Amino acid sequence: MDDGRQVGEGFDRAAEEYDEVLLHNRQGAARLVAALPPGAYGEILDVGCGTGFVSEEMIARFGTARVTGVDPSEGMLERFRQKLAGLSVEASLIQAGVHEMPVPDEAFDAVVSGMAFHWFPEKPAAVAAMARRLRPGGVLGILAAGTGTDEEFREILEGIEPPVPRAWVDVFPLIHRSAGQLADYMEQAGLEVVDVWEERRVRRVTPEAYLARINAVASHLSAGMDPDEAAGHGARVMQGVVDATGPRGFEYAFVKLFGVARRPG
Ligand SMILES: C[S@@+](CC[C@H](N)C(=O)[O-])C[C@H]1O[C@@H](n2cnc3c(N)ncnc32)[C@H](O)[C@@H]1O
Repeated sequence: MDDGRQVGEGFDRAAEEYDEVLLHNRQGAARLVAALPPGAYGEILDVGCGTGFVSEEMIARFGTARVTGVDPSEGMLERFRQKLAGLSVEASLIQAGVHEMPVPDEAFDAVVSGMAFHWFPEKPAAVAAMARRLRPGGVLGILAAGTGTDEEFREILEGIEPPVPRAWVDVFPLIHRSAGQLADYMEQAGLEVVDVWEERRVRRVTPEAYLARINAVASHLSAGMDPDEAAGHGARVMQGVVDATGPRGFEYAFVKLFGVARRPG
């Protein structure tokens, strides 16, 4: 299994602009952390930590003193590292994916993961891997892109001629999950579900802003492609989004999937 290596390389390329282009993910991290039950979360594990949005929110809300951040993208970890000087926290940042992360079991008051779960290769196993790192009584908080996200874009991709690589279209159902599925994974991992829910938003943006986000989070899907071929596909995709854009911008759905669960004990 490629535990985030290819996806991580895509995020290496996006790391510099990530905080600016993915402002929505900072807001999502704040809402995930706001939804955790009150408690003492002195030591946390942040899986797919990226540039540290969720950890920053944990430090701000709970005064978290020790963060272990895990991510396969060295570029994203480096951005997180640059922020640490301004944060009063002891941090250990580890380049690894969720399935192979070298962190101890039963060691954390909370395990959190913001907007990374949809990239984890094996969803139930990933939840189990995060759950077993919790101390008894510890809390798992996950935020991910849910089923239905970017559906309008998937339909545009389906209609492009000559066809875009099949992986660009097939990726949507592979990565997105519903609230019911996430709740099942949490229970299968021995956790008590506290709350699982979806927020469906309609966003309207310029075609340029839309594709800047897609490129920032999914460039690994074009890795290794001939540059001319990639440019041709890119131009046709841009035209498809422009054609679907109305006077108020390109309208698309974004479903945020939240889950909070507790390890018994
Ligand atoms: C959209 S970013 C989210 C970063 C941050 N948590 C946030 O809330 O902004 C997704 C992150 O997941 C990481 N990732 C991808 N595959 C992974 C895996 N198998 N295990 C852990 N992290 C992974 C990527 O490298 C990337 O940094």
